[in-house]
Amino acid sequence: SFAKRIFSGIQPSGGLTLGNYLGALKRFADYQGKGAETIYCVVDLHAITVWQEPEKLRHNTREVAAAFMASGVDPEVSILFNQSQVSQHAELAWLFNTVARVGWMYRMTQFKDKAGKNSENSSLGLLAYPSLMAADILAYHATAVPVGEDQKQHLELTRDIAAKFNHDYGVDFFPITEPMIEGTATRVMSLRDGSKKMSKSDPSDASRINLTDDADAIAQKIRKARTDADPLPGSMEGLKDRPEAKNLVNIYAALTGENGDQVLARFEGQGFGAFKPALAEVAVEALAPITRRMTEFMADPAEIDRILGRGAGQAAAIAGPIVERTKDIMGM
Ligand code: ADP
Ligand code: NA
Repeated sequence: SFAKRIFSGIQPSGGLTLGNYLGALKRFADYQGKGAETIYCVVDLHAITVWQEPEKLRHNTREVAAAFMASGVDPEVSILFNQSQVSQHAELAWLFNTVARVGWMYRMTQFKDKAGKNSENSSLGLLAYPSLMAADILAYHATAVPVGEDQKQHLELTRDIAAKFNHDYGVDFFPITEPMIEGTATRVMSLRDGSKKMSKSDPSDASRINLTDDADAIAQKIRKARTDADPLPGSMEGLKDRPEAKNLVNIYAALTGENGDQVLARFEGQGFGAFKPALAEVAVEALAPITRRMTEFMADPAEIDRILGRGAGQAAAIAGPIVERTKDIMGM
């Protein structure tokens, strides 16, 4: 059953990967027109928690908007906008900074990963990132958030902030949002290391498939993906201790809309010499039209800006009264 209002966002912090596509973008279009209102956002205020070159940020913001639309998000059906154009996100994030506790932020594994050893020198925004994410979601009273598994801990924090606000002020104002972590590709792993997630920030380009890669690059990266030498088993159960093999089968399944067992029923007993070219074929078939549509959208940046501008107006019309009411509850 579908929630009443779905919200999700993607950072314009660099090229998008197959992980972003399967874990997030591909699913966003599927939720449209099924009874829930769908609100999708390019979260540039999140991106700047680590250094972004201004001209690159402007480009990446349009590129993520193009990727949303190329993946099937229809701005006539969904609200599609850029976070920094709707001031309620930053405003509500500040209010939530007074609700959330410092200790909650230090516990976030993404902060630990991104801040690294020199965490005292990371931006204050990087630490407060989950407070802004809670604001993104709760400014719309969103009840469900489709994300990849890496965002699970942040969503729990959103729930904690909503619950603490409701408790502290004695209201039942913010919903306790449900994460939607669904499908076979909730955590797409690196092609070079089965213990790391595929990420646009991995220094090795061979570790990921980018949405802008051409057919040859995709085929070559899949051919070189790390695997073992054993033949494929007849079901996913047999891949329990083979993370790299499991990852490739999950990617295949997510691309074709099957589950892993259905894929393995066809490849049982075969090796990666047969499986990898088949995977490359389905990956190219799925991604080529998206890459092409992204290029088409990017050829008209003024049109992208117009669409984002209109979406910002629609978003502010929802978030404005909710943030006003929040301030009122707090005595402002
Ligand atoms: P990234 O993690 O690539 O910097 P974002 O933080 O903007 O990207 O995440 C955008 C969406 O893509 C989130 O819903 C996130 O969970 C999802 N996502 C990112 N990487 C992966 C992955 N390797 N597998 C599945 N989903 C992913
Ligand atoms: Na992420």
